[in-house]
Amino acid sequence: MTDHRFPDSFLWGSATSSFQIEGAATADGRGVSIWDTFSRQPGKVLGGDTGDVACDHFHRYADDVQLMKQLGLQAYRFSVAWPRVLPFGTGTPVAAGLDFYSRLVDALLEVGIEPWITLYHWDLPQALQDRGGWPQRSTVDAFVNYADVVARHLGDRVTHWITHNEPWCAAVLGYQNGLHAPGWNEPAAALAAAHHLLLSHGRAVPVIRSHSKGAQVGITLNVAPAEPASPSAADAAATERMDAHFNRWYFEPLIGKGYPEVGIADHREQGIVGPGPLPFIEPGDMEQIAVEIDFLGINYYSRAVVRCDRVSDEDNAPRTIPEAPAERKTDIGWEVWPDGLYAILRRLGDEMPVPIYITENGAAYSTGPGPDGEVHDTRRVAYLAGHIDACWRAIEDGVDLRGYFVWSLMDNFEWQEGYSQRFGVVWVDFETQQRTPKDSAWFFRDVVAANAALPMP
Ligand code: FCB
Repeated sequence: MTDHRFPDSFLWGSATSSFQIEGAATADGRGVSIWDTFSRQPGKVLGGDTGDVACDHFHRYADDVQLMKQLGLQAYRFSVAWPRVLPFGTGTPVAAGLDFYSRLVDALLEVGIEPWITLYHWDLPQALQDRGGWPQRSTVDAFVNYADVVARHLGDRVTHWITHNEPWCAAVLGYQNGLHAPGWNEPAAALAAAHHLLLSHGRAVPVIRSHSKGAQVGITLNVAPAEPASPSAADAAATERMDAHFNRWYFEPLIGKGYPEVGIADHREQGIVGPGPLPFIEPGDMEQIAVEIDFLGINYYSRAVVRCDRVSDEDNAPRTIPEAPAERKTDIGWEVWPDGLYAILRRLGDEMPVPIYITENGAAYSTGPGPDGEVHDTRRVAYLAGHIDACWRAIEDGVDLRGYFVWSLMDNFEWQEGYSQRFGVVWVDFETQQRTPKDSAWFFRDVVAANAALPMP
């Protein structure tokens, strides 16, 4: 047993997202999303995988809810597919699309699992992308209208709402690096996209509250503590820039601090924006972004070790990031670093005036069923044990952390990696759609039951 107990009200859940698990890509008039389009372009997603079937959760949701019940989960974070509700992004909602989420919510409530809805987890209706997507200000209006439609329909039963999942990913991976849909390589557009994502968050919050009595509304950011790869001045400066672009650019506007100067200066130096005010900010925007929220969701996977790649002087030799040893890396290459979670929790605990929830944390390991039919994913168990203990330590040290959602309930479509990376605590056989809880699922069940950070069994 352990004395690392969590507060009685601590919430334990699992997380997924619509495109990654639902499948049923054309059921009931669902529209096309940017991920349907992107995944069909050759070379964008490993193995040419698509979300057409995924975990077929759209048809199997009732069994999946039972599975969560079996694991003793208290909450379930899922996202609504915008194109399932509004196939073209705006216009008349599809009753059958809304009804799917209504049935899911009812099924969860029936077994005492709290539904947590994410409104946007990256599946933008293609019709909105055709009109310019997130770099266009009109997408903000479309999102607020979509939030209104969903909250109006489900606000009587759903009290926990997340406007956006990881706006950094939606903006930068989508419009700057081209790794995610829609696959653009336009840094200036990515900046505008990030602003519009945040603005749409700010404008949607009061709309959600108007339909959902006592609603708790927040946003989820992906965060990572940044550490320099060497003691050089160049790496220190690069670390500061990375932190500004990745972390501060998103959480500081939420608390009324605006965009960080270091980041703005860097964008200017790179020629991404000109001198003077940022062109996409209109009067009142920053106030709307800084709307009061009820909680901050954070997704944590690893730390960032930063090396300056802009100078070629002796200041910073050798110019490589020290590789984490293989035993400390997950299959997707991310370093296992629980102290990073502790560090970022402490920092945000100090800076954010609201409670924090970990809305995603988990690991990619391919371990599948053994000869006994069971999945002994010991490394994932170790990952979870380490990170859950980091949460416990952060709470002990004063951080107002209220809950933890494991990513993910089940193996699913991992974006540009297709089905090659498995993050689930439940194994999915994508041929038969059979679900098999892994050892990590049973470990997590025990953690929830004990409400404590348990050591490795
Ligand atoms: C996060 C995403 C989530 C999943 C995990 C591994 O960035 O929010 O959908 O892909 O990474």
